[in-house]
Amino acid sequence: MSCLIEIDGLRYHYPDGRSALNGIDLHVKHGERVGLVGPNGAGKTTLFLTLAGVIDSFEGEVSVAGCDLTTPEGRKEVHRKLGIVFQQTDDQLFHASVEEDIAFGPLNLGADEAEVRRRVDCALSSVGLNEDFKNRLPFHLSGGEKRRVAIAGVLAMEPDVLLLDEPSSDLDPRGRRELVQILDRLPITRVISSHNLDFICETCERVVIIDGGVVRASGPTHEILADEDLMLKHGLETPYFLREAIRGK
Ligand SMILES: Nc1ncnc2c1ncn2[C@@H]1O[C@H](COP(=O)(O)OP(=O)(O)O)[C@@H](O)[C@H]1O
Ligand SMILES: [Mg+2]
Repeated sequence: MSCLIEIDGLRYHYPDGRSALNGIDLHVKHGERVGLVGPNGAGKTTLFLTLAGVIDSFEGEVSVAGCDLTTPEGRKEVHRKLGIVFQQTDDQLFHASVEEDIAFGPLNLGADEAEVRRRVDCALSSVGLNEDFKNRLPFHLSGGEKRRVAIAGVLAMEPDVLLLDEPSSDLDPRGRRELVQILDRLPITRVISSHNLDFICETCERVVIIDGGVVRASGPTHEILADEDLMLKHGLETPYFLREAIRGK
């Protein structure tokens, strides 16, 4: 089966010389739900920015849904194929209404008025928000609602791949539960970075550990997260319920 994301030998250092990615190899198939975990500074956000076409001076091969990101054309086109939801939703929501924020992407793609309206309605319903939210000021929404609007804005672009960077970090338990349910209903290929390993367990069937800008392990979620030595080695911790399950064996 062909892969939607193909990364081979990806290296990148920031302009100040700090190396962030040191030879990443990662392939993601159509329909896969991948959890990206690793300590702070592992390179998760930098990897996402590279996949989104924001970073241009990397080494290696990177392609997303047929866009070759080693070329300027590929990096320009990739926003039609890949949607990214940043950790800070305030960076993503900057219009005077929820409707305008969600319409921004499709309008930029050149969709006509009727098509924009259709996409806004469809995206809102995908994230479980009703019509009344259209006229709300994004700035006044709760953390969970902002997160949903940010996801809706990306879904309105109808991407092939969704990247979510630390999506549960500012959510209370109810907001987190609702996000799990929303993601469960979305059939889209996705990569989710998170420190919340319960959240990863509930939303991803494969986990990739990244540390020091290199992929250190990849495999079925429960298998990887239950490997206590591997987890500790990379600044992570086996979730409590998995530890109990192992000890109960
Ligand atoms: N704008 C930047 N300039 C210089 N170094 C950066 C910048 N952003 C991140 N880094 C460095 O790149 C490495 C990877 O960071 P990042 O991708 O943010 O990791 P993560 O998202 O896993 O916490 C870290 O060493 C970090 O300090
Ligand atoms: Mg990060």
